[in-house]
Amino acid sequence: MTTSISLVGKTALVTGGGRGIGKAIAKRLAEAGANVVIASRKLENLEATATELAGLPGKVLPIACHVGRLEEIENLVRETESHFGPVDILVNNSATNLGQGPSLAVTDEMLDKIVEINIKAAIRLVRLTVPKMIERGKGSIINISSVAGIEPQPQGLLYSFTKAGLIMMTRGWAREFSPHGVRCNTIAPGLIQTDFSAHFWKNEQYRSELETNQPIPRIGQPDEISFAALYLASDESSYVTGQVLVIDGGMTA
Ligand SMILES: NC(=O)c1ccc[n+]([C@@H]2O[C@H](COP(=O)([O-])OP(=O)(O)OC[C@H]3O[C@@H](n4cnc5c(N)ncnc54)[C@H](OP(=O)(O)O)[C@@H]3O)[C@@H](O)[C@H]2O)c1
Repeated sequence: MTTSISLVGKTALVTGGGRGIGKAIAKRLAEAGANVVIASRKLENLEATATELAGLPGKVLPIACHVGRLEEIENLVRETESHFGPVDILVNNSATNLGQGPSLAVTDEMLDKIVEINIKAAIRLVRLTVPKMIERGKGSIINISSVAGIEPQPQGLLYSFTKAGLIMMTRGWAREFSPHGVRCNTIAPGLIQTDFSAHFWKNEQYRSELETNQPIPRIGQPDEISFAALYLASDESSYVTGQVLVIDGGMTA
């Protein structure tokens, strides 16, 4: 084994790969030589990212997909396979954080929507990609959870429960699939500076408390998540499965 990670010949699928953490992960995987499909709702944004990442050793292909819609997910996997072959690395990264507010204000519509995007999409993508990983005896699934899946997020219990669900699915899938060569792990970021978390990092009081109390007293950057994904995607993590890698500047220490 060498010290530089190579993913040459691998196919990766990163949902929400057009911006934020997903984009940083897509870039890192393509740098290591994987061919990467980036998928989300806004094709324009995905295309801009693909253009930005063109020229890396691996190709980056944008495919529009609303991960809450089964037919679009089926199309995403079909298109990925037809361009690059079966998926070796699945990164379940797309998410929504709707439903911020008190638990008693959660409606059925909010509940259905968040489960559809944050949980059901991952289950469907696993169902569509893992059989071929098992056939080939190898694969890596990386679920992007959150520290909110470990500690209940104030005013964000709905989001927290979906992120906790991803952690439990990770552990269950690891037990079920790892004997067949398919590993499954979770990354749980703390506060990372993206559009998604602007509500927190633009709040001066929240930010100043974090910058005072957190052991690493600053907000994280998407790139600081991407190296963990690269490791978990690669054979260098061949003995790691069913784990939650918390990357949070010590927030939960
Ligand atoms: N930022 C943080 O502080 C933080 C902390 C912990 C965990 N996380 C997790 O990290 C992951 C990435 O978040 P981020 O911070 O990078 O946020 P972001 O920059 O807002 O990215 C979210 C991505 O999800 C996609 N997406 C949203 N709804 C979708 C849908 N219905 N179908 C397909 N794609 C959809 C978005 O693309 P479109 O709009 O084009 O669909 C976007 O690419 C999420 O799972 C989030 O829960 C983030």
